[in-house]
Amino acid sequence: MSDIAKLEIDGKTYEFPVIRGIENEIAIDIKSLRSVTNGIITLDAGFKNTGSCESKITFLDGEKGILRYRGYAIEDLTKKANFLEVAFLIIFGELPTKAEFNKFEKDIKRHSLLNEEMKDIIDGFPKVAHPMGMLSSLTSALTAFNPATVDINSKEDLYESIVKLMGKFPVLAAWAHSKNQGTPLNYADNSLNYIENIMQMMFKIPTETYKMNPIAVKALDELLILHEDHEQNCSTSTVRIAGSSEAGLFASISAGVSALWGRLHGGANQAVLEMLEDIQKDGGDVEKYIAKAKDKNDPFRLMGFGHRVYKNFDPRARIIKKAADDLFEDLGTNDPVLAIAKHLEEVALKDEYFAERKLYPNVDFYSGIIYRALGIPVEMFTVMFAIGRLPGSIAQWKEMRLNHEPIGRPRQLYTGYAHREFKSYSER
Ligand code: CMC
Repeated sequence: MSDIAKLEIDGKTYEFPVIRGIENEIAIDIKSLRSVTNGIITLDAGFKNTGSCESKITFLDGEKGILRYRGYAIEDLTKKANFLEVAFLIIFGELPTKAEFNKFEKDIKRHSLLNEEMKDIIDGFPKVAHPMGMLSSLTSALTAFNPATVDINSKEDLYESIVKLMGKFPVLAAWAHSKNQGTPLNYADNSLNYIENIMQMMFKIPTETYKMNPIAVKALDELLILHEDHEQNCSTSTVRIAGSSEAGLFASISAGVSALWGRLHGGANQAVLEMLEDIQKDGGDVEKYIAKAKDKNDPFRLMGFGHRVYKNFDPRARIIKKAADDLFEDLGTNDPVLAIAKHLEEVALKDEYFAERKLYPNVDFYSGIIYRALGIPVEMFTVMFAIGRLPGSIAQWKEMRLNHEPIGRPRQLYTGYAHREFKSYSER
């Protein structure tokens, strides 16, 4: 393929460089478009054809169903590494040595205590507040307790804010859960690992000894690895664009948490389980819901199906489906919702509507079922996703700042009124 792309407008030809990624993805670099054409822009709603940055973090190929963090296959990482090890890889670029890992874990634990005044903020929320709303607000509130902005040019300063956020974020998530439940706010126990700590902070009650289930810990570890990064999705782009104004790390991550909340993104895991429960309550008629999803006059969509990038299969869904099967076998659970999910998947995959549009189960189709088996309430599902996505969001923010990317500021095509004369009240 040529190294130059040509654009012809009004008989005039403009040339733009064609650049390639490491996996041979091809992009037309239109940086100079506005200046050479005197103001012409591209229009691409939903950024379906637009690369917003160059990145070295995650590679995914939607046609082949490939997902790699820093070059390592997701299948290997879920089998051979743990969540924190993968977090180190994503944030710093290489798998940690044992000594680096131990230091990283220790430094995160050093920051697992929240300022006690944070409890006043928790007190201010109503009991029924959605935990994603609380998590986003509490993450933003960290800026009030850490007012100094990160000096991006200082390695030490950057590292310190990263371990601080990694340490405090799961505590905020667990406290949001405790607020909903009306249970005491638990502290981290630094003798436990990252995932064990999340579980004990969420579920331990003072009147009983909390028994850690290693099967549940392993399943959660694997699930959260699958969520660690996913290149330039909605919440990640939000983190990068918020951070591009030089907003701090905590503020940018808080913006990302809000973006993750929506039903079409991280909120899909909650929506999937609610949908499956609705189908169950409605008598389990899977075909009826497939018909609803296909009906263009019905706004219903099959939650957990389809993906902007994966048009063959979502490799995360394949891993998670197996993890769900293993977990149910290990725990001896027989969840009727799982049977509905399997039936729904089977019918949808044979249906022409879904095949034509390349709609396959995505990561969220099965993650909710796993969370449910672990005793995590449905409102917390997207919070679990947010905990999993934290290392990716940090890495993307860091990469964007260290690359000195310009402030994100898209253009628009104005379609409102042309100039109008102002009318006073008596003339309106
Ligand atoms: N159920 C029924 N029809 C669907 C669905 C669905 N879940 N998803 C897409 N379609 C149809 C859509 O109506 C359109 O049909 P037509 O061409 O006849 O107009 C066609 O498929 C293409 O859909 P699109 O909305 O243009 O595709 P998109 O790339 O803009 O949207 C998506 C991707 C994930 C938002 C969408 O598939 C969806 O809404 N899925 C359900 C929500 C969901 O599970 N989201 C989680 C995504 S994975 C977790 C994450 O990374 O956030």
